[in-house]
Amino acid sequence: MKVAVLCSGRGSNLLALLEAAEAGLLGPAELRLVLADSKEAGAINIAREWGLYAAVVPRTAYHANRDGFERRLLEVMAPHEIEIVVLAGFLRVLGPVFLAAFPNKIINVHPALLPAFPGRDVWPLEVASGVKLAGATVHLVEKGVDSGPIIIQGSVPVLDEDEPETLAARILKVEHRILPQALAWLASGRLIIEDGRVRLKDLPKTGREEEVFIWPPLEG
Ligand code: GRF
Repeated sequence: MKVAVLCSGRGSNLLALLEAAEAGLLGPAELRLVLADSKEAGAINIAREWGLYAAVVPRTAYHANRDGFERRLLEVMAPHEIEIVVLAGFLRVLGPVFLAAFPNKIINVHPALLPAFPGRDVWPLEVASGVKLAGATVHLVEKGVDSGPIIIQGSVPVLDEDEPETLAARILKVEHRILPQALAWLASGRLIIEDGRVRLKDLPKTGREEEVFIWPPLEG
């Protein structure tokens, strides 16, 4: 399954995908193309270092014309016969033009336990809210902001001394683990989507089904 990765920023999630591919952890998913919406995106350099085709479609060139921007993305992708799209720190909300081209084949990684804290720059909000557990989510992309059936989540504690940056760094480690896994599952046809929920086909019992993660930890 040929995969395009769309990025806006430094590209650490892209790097996690490339490392997972190298380790043979992406199943039938093959990373083919990286697209960025700004030439400042560090992800472009990472892609080139790894010998992956990379292109920039500058969002600023399209002003209020989201459809035009999305049509251009699709045009650049077309020769690569892309089947799956991964949004890895892509800071644009996709509209009907793009979504219609890849139904149930676009995934996004988000640095919060959705449906809590959708949107951009969530770390200060997570810290300020006083939640004790934060985390990351990978979900199928539907219209709307950070909405769509959830594939996988991972959680981390929020520490009393956390600043948005320290929490973001802890959450990022979760993102790097769950994004490659979600992609491998999608590419290998393991996701069953029913009534807005994702089930995983052939999910093996791990013995960890009853595990709980409580923060702050219980005493005594
Ligand atoms: C990640 O935290 C992602 O969840 C968010 O933006 C950040 C991108 O990081 N949407 P990177 O470009 O993958 O390093």
